[in-house]
Amino acid sequence: MATTTIVTGSIEGLLQEERRYPPPPAFAAAANVRDPEVYERARRDPEGFWAEAARELTWERPWDRVMDWTPPTVKWFVGGQINASVNCVDRHAHGERRTKPAIVWEGEPGDERVLTYEELHREVNRAALMLKALGVQKGDRVTIYLPMVPELPIAMLACARIGAPHTVVFGGFAPEALAGRINDSGAKVLITADGGYRRGQIVPLKQNADRALAAAPGVEHVVVVERVGAAAGIAMEPGRDRWWHEAMAAVGDGGCPPEPVDAEHPLYILYTSGTTGKPKGLLHTTGGYLLGTSLTAKWVFDLKEDDIYWCTADIGWVTGHSYIVYGPLANGATAVMFEGTPDYPDKDRFWDIVERRRVTVFYTAPTAIRGFMGWGAEHPAKHDLSSLRLLGTVGEPINPEAWVWYHEHIGGGRCPIVDTWWQTETGMIMISPLPGMTVTKPGSATVPFPGVEPDVVDGQGNSVPLGQGGNLVLRRPWPAMARTIWGDPDRYAAQYFGSYGPAVYVTGDGARRDEEGYFWLMGRVDDVLNVAGHRLGTMELESALVSHPAVAEAAVIGIGHELKGQGIAAFARLRVGAEATDALAEELRRHVAEKIGPIARPDRVYFVAELPKTRSAKIMRRLLRDIAEGRVVGDTTTLTDPGVLAEIKASYGGAEAVE
Ligand code: WTA
Repeated sequence: MATTTIVTGSIEGLLQEERRYPPPPAFAAAANVRDPEVYERARRDPEGFWAEAARELTWERPWDRVMDWTPPTVKWFVGGQINASVNCVDRHAHGERRTKPAIVWEGEPGDERVLTYEELHREVNRAALMLKALGVQKGDRVTIYLPMVPELPIAMLACARIGAPHTVVFGGFAPEALAGRINDSGAKVLITADGGYRRGQIVPLKQNADRALAAAPGVEHVVVVERVGAAAGIAMEPGRDRWWHEAMAAVGDGGCPPEPVDAEHPLYILYTSGTTGKPKGLLHTTGGYLLGTSLTAKWVFDLKEDDIYWCTADIGWVTGHSYIVYGPLANGATAVMFEGTPDYPDKDRFWDIVERRRVTVFYTAPTAIRGFMGWGAEHPAKHDLSSLRLLGTVGEPINPEAWVWYHEHIGGGRCPIVDTWWQTETGMIMISPLPGMTVTKPGSATVPFPGVEPDVVDGQGNSVPLGQGGNLVLRRPWPAMARTIWGDPDRYAAQYFGSYGPAVYVTGDGARRDEEGYFWLMGRVDDVLNVAGHRLGTMELESALVSHPAVAEAAVIGIGHELKGQGIAAFARLRVGAEATDALAEELRRHVAEKIGPIARPDRVYFVAELPKTRSAKIMRRLLRDIAEGRVVGDTTTLTDPGVLAEIKASYGGAEAVE
C-alpha cells in the first residue's frame, strides 16, 4: 500500500540516521563507568543495584527494606533516615573539599560570588536557623520565588536541613501563578527578592509577590533578598516582611543541627503543567531522590573531582533542582550558576563564561542549541572552549542537525554528547548514554540508565516490535520517582497509572526503539499528528525543517484538514540573511516532503520572528494551534514574550504562504 510505504518512510527518516559516535578512547579509558556489566547487574537484581549505590550516601539510620511497591505507591529505603543538606553540604564542608568551590555564581551584570563548601555550610545553617526563628517546623512548606542567585540553593538546602519541603516557583511566573502555587502548597513563608535582572531590565519580584500575597492570605512571613537595590521602590509590610541579610545576621553562626528525616519525608513540591489548566504539584521525597540524582549525575555527567560543571537551566525547573543543586552537590562537585540569558549583553555570553570559568561539563537544552545555530558559529568561535570535555542536552528531542552542530562547534568534535530523557515526574535521568561506553546516534537518547526499564507499547499496552512507534512507559519503579501529586493522589493515580495495568507508569511521550534497542523520543503523545490516518511526530517534521539551511527553528502542529483529518502547519524562524518569501515557503514544503515523504509536506508555512515558548522554553503548540485554527487564544501567562503572539496572529492573517 502506497500510504504505508510513505509512513514507513517517515519512521525511517530518523531511524536512517546512520552517523555513529563511539566514545573517544581517552574519554572511555578514564570514565567513571567503563564496565557494561553494570547493566546486567542492575537487570539481575535492581534492588541490590540501587541499595549498593545508596550506601555511598550518608544515612542517619540504615534502612530496613530497600523498596515497598503497592502500585501506584512506592516507598524506597523504608525505615532509613537521612538528611539532604548533610549529604549535599556537611559531608564536604569538613574534609578535603572544605575550600573547594561548591557554587560559582555569575550575575547578569557580571558580578560574581564563589561559595566554597565551608561557606555554603555556614550560609545554609544560618538560613535554617532563620526559618526556624520564623516558626517553620518540620513538614511546613516554604515557597521560594527568587531569581538565579546563590540565596536560592541556600534557601532550598536550609529547608531540607529542617525537614520543611520547599516549593520553588520560577521567577518568571506572574503573580496569579505564584498565588495559585502558594495556596495549593499551603506555604506560610515566602522567600523572594527585591528584583532580578533580565536582559538589563529589572524584574519586579517583590511587587509581583505583593500582588500574589493579596490572593494568598496564608503567608505569615516574607523574607526579601536584596538583589537589585530597589529598596526605595518596594514596600515592606511591617510584621510580615523582613530583609534576608538582616534576618540572617540576627541568627548568628551557632549552627543548626540537621533534622534526620525518614527516607520518604517530602523534600519538595514542584509544579508542572498538565493536560488540564491546573498545574500539578509533583512531590519528591528524600532518600530515593537523592540517590537517583546523585548517581545519575556521577555516571551520566562523569563527574570528577576537578570538573567545573555547568547546567544552564533555571532552578525554577526540575532540571535545576536535580542537576544544579541536589545531584552535583551530593557529589561534592563545583557547579556554575548563571543569572542571565545567553544573548545578553551579547550572543557569546555562554561561551565567554565557559572560557573564563574553564567549564568542563556543559548541560543545556536543544532549543538553546538551535538558537545558537541561528546566531551563527562565529560566536562560539570567538572563545577558547577547549576546557569542555562532555556535553549534555535535555528537555525535548534534539534534531540530528542540532546535535551535530553542538558536537562540532561547541564540543570541538572531541566531546561526547549525553542526550538525557527524563521528566519532572521521574526526578532523575532515565534514558541516556553513559558517556564512556555508549555509542551515540544523533537524535537518540540511546539506552535506559541501569535499573530503569522503559518499554514502548501500543494502545492496549502490548510491547510493540523493535522499529515501531508507540507509547513510552516505565515498567519498574525507580528511586527518584515522584510519589504523588500534592493534595491530589487520585489525579496522580489516574494520570500516570492504570492505562496499561496498575504497575505501569505512563510517560505521555511517544517513542520508538530501533533494532539495537536505542530509544528515539517522538515528543508528547499529544504532539504526534495523525495525517491521513498515519502518525507523524512533530519532532521529525521540525527536524526536517531545520535541516534546511534557511531555517533556525521550527514548530509544527496539526490543523484541521478536510481530506486528511489532520494537516500540517509549520512555523519557521529563519536564520539571519534568509528572506521570508513565497518561494522559500514552497521550497520548505518540498524539502520536508523530500526528507520524510510526500505525506509530510506541510500544508502551510508561516514565517515568524520568534516562536511562542513557555518560560521553560517549550514551544506552546496549543497556542499555535489556536492561532492556526482561528480560535481564541488561551492562557498565555507562561509565554516568554507575549508580543510574539500578536506577531504570529498577524502572520496568520496576512502573509500566509501558498497552499
Ligand atoms: C521531554 C524536563 C526527548 C519529554 C527534564 C518529557 C525529552 C518532557 C527529553 C518532560 C529528551 C525531556 N529527549 N524529549 N532528552 N528530555 N523531554 O517535566 O516530552 O519539563 O516528557 O522535564 O520533556 O519535561 P519536564
